[in-house]
Amino acid sequence: MTGWSQAVSEARGQMTSRHLEATGETATLTGNRGLQLEEGLIFEQDSPGHCGVDLPEAASHKSRLGGLKRQAPIGLPGLSEPQVVRHFTRLSQKNYAIDSGLYPLGSCTMKHNPRLNEKLARLPGFADIHPLQPASTIPGALELIDTLAHWLKTLTGMPAVALSPAAGAHGELCGMMAIRAALTARGDPRRRILVPESAHGTNPATAALCGYAIDSIPNNARGRVDLAALKARLGGDVAALMLTNPNTCGLFEDEILEIAAAVHGAGAFFYCDGANFNAIVGRVRPIDLGIDALHLNLHKTFSTPHGGGGPGSGPVALAAALAPYAPLPWLVHDAGGLRLVEHAAGAAAQSIGRLKGFHGQMGMFVRALSYMMSHGADGLRQVAEDAVLNANYLRVRLDQQTGGRLSQSYPGCCMHEVLFDDRFLKDSGITTLDFAKALIDEGFHPMTMYFPLVVHGALLIEPTETESKAALDQFADTVNFLAERAQSGDGARFHTAPQLTPRRRLDETTAARKPVLRWRPEATRREATE
Ligand SMILES: Cc1ncc(COP(=O)(O)O)c(C=O)c1O
Repeated sequence: MTGWSQAVSEARGQMTSRHLEATGETATLTGNRGLQLEEGLIFEQDSPGHCGVDLPEAASHKSRLGGLKRQAPIGLPGLSEPQVVRHFTRLSQKNYAIDSGLYPLGSCTMKHNPRLNEKLARLPGFADIHPLQPASTIPGALELIDTLAHWLKTLTGMPAVALSPAAGAHGELCGMMAIRAALTARGDPRRRILVPESAHGTNPATAALCGYAIDSIPNNARGRVDLAALKARLGGDVAALMLTNPNTCGLFEDEILEIAAAVHGAGAFFYCDGANFNAIVGRVRPIDLGIDALHLNLHKTFSTPHGGGGPGSGPVALAAALAPYAPLPWLVHDAGGLRLVEHAAGAAAQSIGRLKGFHGQMGMFVRALSYMMSHGADGLRQVAEDAVLNANYLRVRLDQQTGGRLSQSYPGCCMHEVLFDDRFLKDSGITTLDFAKALIDEGFHPMTMYFPLVVHGALLIEPTETESKAALDQFADTVNFLAERAQSGDGARFHTAPQLTPRRRLDETTAARKPVLRWRPEATRREATE
C-alpha cells in the first residue's frame, strides 16, 4: 500500500466487510460516496405557469406565416432559473469525464484536453468562419491547415496528408479507397485484405465496406502478428494488410520491417491503423516502417476532445504511391500562395473525390496544432515516452509477477497500454464485468473490457501521459484492493456493483437491444410498456 491508501485505510478505521455489513455501509477504498439527488426529467418537474424569464410583451406585427400559426402552446416545462441551472448542473455531474478523474479506457486514449487549445479554438477568426466563405477571405485558416499538414507530414515522414476524414474509421475508409484506386489504376484489382485477429473492429468493417474479403491472421504467443501465418496467407489477390502498431495488445510489432517487406513483395499495400500513435509520436516515423497509408485520430494523440463518432478528425498520411489518390479538397502552394483544389482535374485527376462536405473539422485542427506547437517536437517525444512510462508503471504495480494481483496476458514491457486477462479471477465466480462495475463504486471509470478478443476476459488499461504518480498509485491501489477482495471471496461486493451510482446494474442486453431513447409523459409511457 502507498502512503495514500494507508492514510485512507487508517482514517476509515480499517473497515472490514463484516463491519460494513453490520452498519449497512458499502466499503470503498477511495472513500467514494454518491452525492446525487433522485430527480425527474425537466419535463417531469414542470409547474405550469412558471417562467424563468420576464420578457416584455412583444410588439404586435402582421403575421407572415400564411395561416401556419401555432394553435396551442408549445408545451415547454415551466421552471424557475435556479431549477433549470441545478437540473443541468446535476446532469453534467452524472457524466464521468477526463476532467473528473483518471479515465483508463484502453484503446480509446482519453487524453487531457489542454485549456490553451480551447482558448485558441474559440478565437473568432477561427470559430466564426463559415465553410462557404470565399477562400480569399480566410488566408489565416488556410495557413493553419497547411501548418498542421506540415507537422503531420513531418511526424509521419509521409509526403501527403488528407485532413478531411472525420474520425479514425473514416480515415481507414479514405486510406482503403486510395489503395483500391491505386490497384484499379494499375489494372490489378485484388480481393483480399489481411487483418490480424487482434484488430479493432473498424478495420475489417472498413475493408468489407470497400468490397474486400477479410482474411484473419492469428497472433503469436508474444501477442504480435504471426509472421509465418501472414507470409503463408500472402498472394497475388491480396490488396493490403491492415495492421495496428502499436497493436491493440499494447505491444510494438517488432517484426514490422519484415512484415512490410513481405507485403510489398506480394505487390500489396501496407495500411497501418495509427490510432495508437500516442506511444510513438516523435520517436518513430511510420514511413521508415514501410507503411503506405496510416490514419491518425487527432483525439488520441493530439488531445482534441473525443468525438465519440461525432465531430472528430482522422487525417490520413499517404506515401508517394498513394498521394495522387488523396481525397479533395487539396491545399496547394503555387505562385498565388495557398490555393484550394476542389475538383478532380489536372494534378488531382486521380483523386478519390470528396469524403465529406467542406474541408474537415476546423475546431479540431486548431486544437491539434495548438497542442503540437505548445509542446514542440521535443515535447511530443516526451509525451510518447511518458505515456509508455505510465503504462509500464501500472503494469509493474498490477502484475502478479511484480507484486500486484492481476494476470498480464503477454509478460514484459508494454507500450502505452497494458493488457490483463481474467486468470486472476479464476474460481472466484467473479467476471471481468463484475470487476469493472466494482471499480465504478470506487469512483473510477472502468478500463476497456473484453477487448482485444485474443485474450480471455480482457482488461485493457491506458493511463496516458498526464497522470501523476499519485494518481497512478491511487488507481493501482484500488485495482489491487479489488483483486484481493475478489480472491478472498467477497462476491457480494462485485455481483451487486455498482451500488453507489444513481442507477444500479442494468440488464445490459435489454439496454442495448431495446433502448428507451425517447421521453414520454407518464400516461403514454405506461401504455407503451403494456
Ligand atoms: C485501434 C483503433 N482503430 C480504429 C479506431 C476507430 O477510431 P474512431 O473511433 O475515431 O473512428 C479506434 C478507436 O478507438 C482504435 O482504437
